[in-house]
Amino acid sequence: MAHLCFSSKIFLDGGVPEETAEAKKLLGFLDGQTTNPTLIAKNLSSRISSSSHLTQKSALDEYKKIVRQMSKIIPKGSVSIQVFADQKTKAREMIKQARERRIWIPNSSIKIPCVAEGLKAGEILCKEMPLNFTLVFSQSQAAAVYEATKGTKYPVFVSPFVGRLDDRGEKGMDVIANIVKMYKSSDKHIEILTASVRNLDHLYCALQLKSDIITIPFKVFKEWASLGFKKPDKDYLYHKPELKDIPYRPDIQLGQPWQSYDLHHDLTDKGVTSFWTDWQGLFK
Ligand code: G3P
Repeated sequence: MAHLCFSSKIFLDGGVPEETAEAKKLLGFLDGQTTNPTLIAKNLSSRISSSSHLTQKSALDEYKKIVRQMSKIIPKGSVSIQVFADQKTKAREMIKQARERRIWIPNSSIKIPCVAEGLKAGEILCKEMPLNFTLVFSQSQAAAVYEATKGTKYPVFVSPFVGRLDDRGEKGMDVIANIVKMYKSSDKHIEILTASVRNLDHLYCALQLKSDIITIPFKVFKEWASLGFKKPDKDYLYHKPELKDIPYRPDIQLGQPWQSYDLHHDLTDKGVTSFWTDWQGLFK
């Protein structure tokens, strides 16, 4: 197969290195991999017959082994490793975890939740390592990430979760379009990473919007492979009348201190809690 070329970088979203290898083989390359505590916990509980034998330390070691395998498969790609945080986790704890995870592999990008303590941590960490701000659901959160990380020389990703907005009847892809539009006048230090992709329409729309990166779960990846990694037609229309539009907010502009943007989103809170409980669930 001739080397395929896309306007976006293509990542795999998952917790299984065998899938990383398979996806790379199918496509011929892979620009990166994202992981999260839920996906890693799923892998561990399926592999380890009695996960009750896992300790916090052994489970973390397993996470390290998994990302090391992924890193070997895509040594030139980016591999996102997430910090563990609940609603009460302070910035200093996220910084500690980020510094530990950063040296697990040379090509790590550390995933931090888009909450106030996460941005406090990110403001410091962006001077030391690549970052990926996760659980982003709004234009306002993306503006805060931009301002908190200004001046960094490392890559910074902002990861809006489109599928989780769709799940509750809102058009998640609008958030991508809105952030693309808001970042038009930016210094371009942030890459928009479309996450929580559930279907090929998300993928086609993200390609059409020129999202810098798209992370694709293995199931959707295989479906895309079965269609020969088709690109959207020029006149492709993302038509989802059943989903409520999320309008662009012209009042949210870059250029303010990050603390002045509204960081709250109930799906961010929910997501922080579920990543935490899915990981802690390994030890019950
Ligand atoms: O990378 C984040 C992504 O895995 C979340 O996807 O399907 O849990 O909303 P989902």
